[in-house]
Amino acid sequence: MRTQVGIIGAGPAGLLLSHLLHLRGISSVVLERRSREYVERRVRAGVLEQGTVDTLVAAGVGERLLREGLPHEGIELRYGGAAHRIPFEKLVPGRRITVYGQQEVVKDLIAARLEAGGDLRFEVDDVELHDLTGAPYVTFGGDRLDCEVIAGCDGFHGVSRPSIPEGVLTVFEREYPFAWLGVLARVRPSAEELIYARNERGFALHSMRSPEVSRFYLQVPPDADLADWPDERVWAELKARLETVPGFTLETGEIIEKGVTPMRGFVAEPMQYGRLYLAGDSAHIVPPTGAKGLNLAVADVNALTEALAAYFATGSAGLLDGYSAACLRRVWRAQHFSWWMTTLLHTFDDEDAYARRLQLSYLDYVTSSMAAATTLAENYVGLS
Ligand code: APR
Ligand code: PHB
Repeated sequence: MRTQVGIIGAGPAGLLLSHLLHLRGISSVVLERRSREYVERRVRAGVLEQGTVDTLVAAGVGERLLREGLPHEGIELRYGGAAHRIPFEKLVPGRRITVYGQQEVVKDLIAARLEAGGDLRFEVDDVELHDLTGAPYVTFGGDRLDCEVIAGCDGFHGVSRPSIPEGVLTVFEREYPFAWLGVLARVRPSAEELIYARNERGFALHSMRSPEVSRFYLQVPPDADLADWPDERVWAELKARLETVPGFTLETGEIIEKGVTPMRGFVAEPMQYGRLYLAGDSAHIVPPTGAKGLNLAVADVNALTEALAAYFATGSAGLLDGYSAACLRRVWRAQHFSWWMTTLLHTFDDEDAYARRLQLSYLDYVTSSMAAATTLAENYVGLS
């Protein structure tokens, strides 16, 4: 079997790449380890920057997103018993974010790929990458796929990055001493906007998916066990961390999904080796506090699409050669922003009273200085 671009992984990065290449007349095959049901059900983040929305709409997969996505023109920072709104409409006029679940993006992309006759293979076993600096090919479940180029879109735990020989990549990593417990609940959101709450008990986030479904996160110890978090405890903790301003009541309901996400920053440089190009989580991870993971994946895929289109149209590898460098500037800006948001809002076991005062003082600065609030808003809605 032969294709122009062999794509490993059917997350948002691999699926979108496959679709954008199709629109440029470039063939691809997507190889995914999990089942279609599994990837469509996997609950992840849900904040789309305008650039991400624009990309999906231009690719013809934005119809449901435009209908069901929730546009937001601000977020709230909640701490010290008060609510502080960061008004995007005032600080970064004309720019906004859209709340739409990543799993919905994945569903829309799979539907579009299948409708266009795309070659998506689910539940493929034993994917291995070969001859990356020569004539690359992929083996899987007894089959072989010859490619001109391979795109490693298989996430942090995938096979692509580890296929690069030792000594080629430089890895930068930061593990945080906590995780996020995420829950999806069948209950209407208790506020119209996202609430990022800093609390002595730990960070909490109020988010949403629709007028009937809310999404929440709680800072928990890194080794937290779901068995220790029955629904009643989740609600009690969310109330303790979020019901801290007068007049706010957290609505509760049936919890339909629960999971623990470790928090880390990670970058592998360069994002390419021979004819293998990494995109999305396979090359970099951000802590979710800045809501940047999916948006970075989409930005990588846009850059890779342009580079591949130039390569297949003219044989010129200039853009492909510069792919990693073109992506890493944005990747590091997002790393910094995500680290900054994380540091601003979480409690750290080893912090002393002085460090807590500094954190509160910084929060006060961010919510009272136009310059500081604009920095937050500009990064949150996306630097394009
Ligand atoms: N073979 C084939 N597929 C694999 C393999 C493998 N060895 N290993 C992993 N995969 C698949 C996973 O099952 C998954 O479906 O690769 C896909 C990677 O998808 P994601 O983890 O969603 O990564 P990506 O597409 O880069 O999307 C980035 O996802 O986690 C969020 O914060 C992240 O929002 C960002 C987005
Ligand atoms: C989400 O809605 O899942 C979400 C929102 C904001 C974040 C992270 C996740 O920073």
